[in-house]
Amino acid sequence: MDDFIKIVSLSDIRESKGITRKLEDDEIAVVRIGDDIRAFLNICPHQHTPLVDKYGGQIQGDELTCPMHGWTYNLKTGKCVNQSGKLKMLEVKVEDGEVYVRKIVNEFGW
Ligand code: FES
Repeated sequence: MDDFIKIVSLSDIRESKGITRKLEDDEIAVVRIGDDIRAFLNICPHQHTPLVDKYGGQIQGDELTCPMHGWTYNLKTGKCVNQSGKLKMLEVKVEDGEVYVRKIVNEFGW
């Protein structure tokens, strides 16, 4: 699948909580927004603390709020809606009930 990597089964993702998985040295968060699946590096750009799963970030609709200082991210774009940060998003494919991800690499890294 073009360097996409299987990361989690669709049935393991809890609505409005998300789940985290290791991918190489990174922790990836996978969340469900309705029928849409999004994945991103599980690090808040503000002070680099984890966002979802056992860390307690709140997902409401399309948005995730960091439990530390309240920066809120649009999970479709990765952009912070109340500050200037942006999550590192991954490409996502769903096939046969499995979620696959691929890092989006550009000249600045990913
Ligand atoms: S560490 Fe996330 S808002 Fe400060």
